[in-house]
Amino acid sequence: MKVFVTREIPEAGLILLKKNGFEVDVYKEDHAIPRKDFLNQIRDCDALIPLLTEKIDKEAIDKMKKCKAIANYAVGFNNIDVDYAICKGITVTNTPDVLTDSTADLVMALVLACARKIPEAEKLVRDKKFKGWKPKLFLGMELRDKYFGILGAGRIGSAVTKRAYAFGCKILYFSDIKNVEIEKKFGAKRVSLNSLLKESDIISIHLPLNKKTYNLLNENNLHLLKKSAILINTARGEIVDEKVLIALLKENKIFAAGLDVYENEPKVNKEFYKLKNIVLLPHIGSATIEARDKMAILAAKNVIAVLAGKKALTPV
Ligand code: GLV
Ligand code: GLV
Repeated sequence: MKVFVTREIPEAGLILLKKNGFEVDVYKEDHAIPRKDFLNQIRDCDALIPLLTEKIDKEAIDKMKKCKAIANYAVGFNNIDVDYAICKGITVTNTPDVLTDSTADLVMALVLACARKIPEAEKLVRDKKFKGWKPKLFLGMELRDKYFGILGAGRIGSAVTKRAYAFGCKILYFSDIKNVEIEKKFGAKRVSLNSLLKESDIISIHLPLNKKTYNLLNENNLHLLKKSAILINTARGEIVDEKVLIALLKENKIFAAGLDVYENEPKVNKEFYKLKNIVLLPHIGSATIEARDKMAILAAKNVIAVLAGKKALTPV
């Protein structure tokens, strides 16, 4: 049986598939597979391991005549028409848990980079402009006793909560479901979206992208943010209306933003480049050796299970 992998992923997963007797076909170019090639390649595969850059819509699913499993190499699965895949008898899986800590670590890196103006400060040294210690050089913000607002209290939101708590922050969270564990362990308080935006010094987004969360932060609520607020997005760009965010940053109506994802990824709004109060990263939330290895193994194990007629490990 044949497994098609749309981009080179860590060996660990590919080896596991080969050991289990599968023919593994990997798209070797160092760019996202062109749509035409993608639609061609998926015709005869028994399982597919795609990235979040591949749009798996009705057109693509209709081409997959033999496919039994789509094992997304990501925790988010907004690139896949899951309902349609399931109605065609295809199991869809993702890679939860294994990338939680890596992503939560990156959130803290962005929070600190914004709070302490790390990119600008680093640039000063590189530009050979460091003239010695100064009382008011790059004054930032301390994290202790700040309100840290988490949007979405699932796996990653909870892991960020734990880290923020360790830094001395007070935790607010917005979620459909009460999270008893973070309330008990970290004193997290569940609040409405508007209260969270109004009261938080740091806001970090940990929601999946879907119809309910598309532009959830928009012109009607982003103005609620404090002038001292830091907004972090490592989830999906489309959750924030970028035009509104850019206006806020331009007018210094918030302190800073840290982004790992963009509304029109991989396109980055050019206005962002003009701003100093923003940290821009190229979607590297799960980019650690540990997480990416485990994601490859988990995707492979999901394929192996489904093609053996067993239950997937992490179906969506
Ligand atoms: C990355 O964005 C993922 O969803 O895993
Ligand atoms: C700073 O370097 C200090 O010694 O306070």
